[in-house]
Amino acid sequence: MLTHRPRRLRSTAAIRGLVRETRVHPEQLVLPAFVQEGESGSTPIDAMPGVHRHTIDSLLALIDEAMRLGVHSFAHFPKVADRLKTPNAREALRPETLACRAFRACRERFPEATLIADIALDPYSPDGHDGLVRDGVVVNDDTVAMLADMAVVHAEAGANILAPSDMMDGRVAAIRAALDSKGLTDTLIMSYAVKYASAFYGPFRGALDSAPKPRGGVPSDKKTYQMDPANTDEALREAALDVEEGADIVMVKPGLPYLDVIHRVSRAIGAPVAAYQVSGEYAMLRAAADAGGIAYTDALRETIVALARGGARIILTYGALDYARAWHDDNRSTNQGSTHT
Ligand code: PBG
Repeated sequence: MLTHRPRRLRSTAAIRGLVRETRVHPEQLVLPAFVQEGESGSTPIDAMPGVHRHTIDSLLALIDEAMRLGVHSFAHFPKVADRLKTPNAREALRPETLACRAFRACRERFPEATLIADIALDPYSPDGHDGLVRDGVVVNDDTVAMLADMAVVHAEAGANILAPSDMMDGRVAAIRAALDSKGLTDTLIMSYAVKYASAFYGPFRGALDSAPKPRGGVPSDKKTYQMDPANTDEALREAALDVEEGADIVMVKPGLPYLDVIHRVSRAIGAPVAAYQVSGEYAMLRAAADAGGIAYTDALRETIVALARGGARIILTYGALDYARAWHDDNRSTNQGSTHT
């Protein structure tokens, strides 16, 4: 006779439910949303089927739907008009920007929502870099001073989490100090602590027209500030520095290609870890599904549970609402006693 029959633990849906190690609730998800100017309506993003750039009006409708599905957290990314982009990115500090208007509208309508502001200069600069460019170099310290001001402007507009995505050194400490000096002591910082120089950001940069542009000696990639995909020891150092500087949450980005990093960082750091399933990851799932190779929702769920299993407590994903809908469908059928074998 066989002593060990691990299959017994897989024999019914109910038993599988009893022994399941990892569950992801919709409230752990963050929906990234692209925002554009305009009265109403939205514009589909070709490389990301199912994802749109939203006017503020349409963004409010999206958030309303998400809140009903139990997704309460949103990361806004504005598409800035070309005429507002300047090498010194001053638009990033104006309290009346598209981003700030979006935060004010969302905060007023959804006081309970978590609104996350991306803090970086790339949407505001014709160079497409996250920092100021001088003599072909993305400069650190002057960028950090601007990011601290940008953080305050966005917090005052209604963002309750600031998410510096720029990878400049020392920006978390500078943002914390700037917020505290304005009495914004309850505003959180979720740092993109471990952000790799990745090919998977392509659809995002296309959606916002924010790709770095080779122009008069300006580098056309972000390798002098975003991390080398080959490194993980460095990830631990980056995450530890950000926590020391006052980050409340640290993020690893992209997600699935960096599961080992998520795992190491989450074991080493006391703070909650977020993983960003980025635009290229989402586009891959959609493209494979459209080609008939995989079932989109099942594959999405598998990747989301993988990120959680790897150690992410928070997951940013363009599939947040698709996941939440499937989660509710499952719960409904379980409550009705259907047998899922
Ligand atoms: C910009 C920013 C990027 C993403 C989030 N914030 C692009 C980049 O760093 O070039 C990528 C998100 C995605 O691909 O879904 N600072």
